[in-house]
Amino acid sequence: MTKTNSKINIREKLEIYLNEFEIQYEEVVTNRKNIHKLEALIESYSDFILNQSYQQAYSAWLDTQEKDHLTHRLADITAKSVKQMEILRAQRLLDGKMSTSQYFENIEHCINEEFGQCKVTANDTLLLVGSGAYPMTLIQVAKETGAKVIGIDIDETAVELGQQVINMLAPEANIHITNQTVDQLEDISAVTHIIFSSTVPVKYQILDQLYDLTNEHVVVSMRYGNGFKALFNYPTEETNFEKWNCAHRQLRSNQIFDIALYRKVITKVGVRDV
Ligand SMILES: C[S@@+](CC[C@H](N)C(=O)[O-])C[C@H]1O[C@@H](n2cnc3c(N)ncnc32)[C@H](O)[C@@H]1O
Repeated sequence: MTKTNSKINIREKLEIYLNEFEIQYEEVVTNRKNIHKLEALIESYSDFILNQSYQQAYSAWLDTQEKDHLTHRLADITAKSVKQMEILRAQRLLDGKMSTSQYFENIEHCINEEFGQCKVTANDTLLLVGSGAYPMTLIQVAKETGAKVIGIDIDETAVELGQQVINMLAPEANIHITNQTVDQLEDISAVTHIIFSSTVPVKYQILDQLYDLTNEHVVVSMRYGNGFKALFNYPTEETNFEKWNCAHRQLRSNQIFDIALYRKVITKVGVRDV
């Protein structure tokens, strides 16, 4: 494939996806019964994001202005679409009809490996920022580790449905979901592990805010997608070098998003630990 061809093909492909997402998302907002087409589109888009030929064509596409513009628009519309799909998944579960999809399988498969060496234990407290209507991360962590887990979400529908899903799937687990912000959480200083959902647009602003609120041992798992994966995730950003240090990155070629682990930069009697 020549560079010219790859540029034309990938741009056309992205424009088609953007157009389809905008149409299908509006259909769902108008009537939730139209979710099936959006669900199928997310399935197709998940395959697209993991396809190496398209990844290469995207890398070879050099028109950065148009590329960035399309990438941001697709990241926004797909984040909103995934949120709708989580609501659907929660409602299906609560109605007694279950569904699975590649997107969710991808998320579920990653949870065990999320913190590398810094595994979650029963004595820990985990916070998930952007817990969603179907909070499978929280349920999985609580069930597998016995840790106390807290989910926060900006969306009240997601909080309400998330609580109902937990009541159904893990009534005994120590899980609390709320629409409070990080500065409103009473036990934020006791949190040992934090996960950011990849599709939270302001995740790096919240990370910055968490520096003063959390204890010095906290470990943060930032889900993200750079380059081609930024079509379906929000990317990494620079952190304040006096606050957060990226200790490790997991690049996962078969998964929708990658993971960056952050630790606090601790200043000790005039010596900065970076
Ligand atoms: C797709 S969902 C959850 C993803 C998935 N459950 C996971 O484990 O990665 C992302 C959620 O983030 C929430 N969200 C977006 N911005 C947020 C913010 N600033 N604070 C908290 N939640 C936010 C959305 O409302 C949405 O429900």
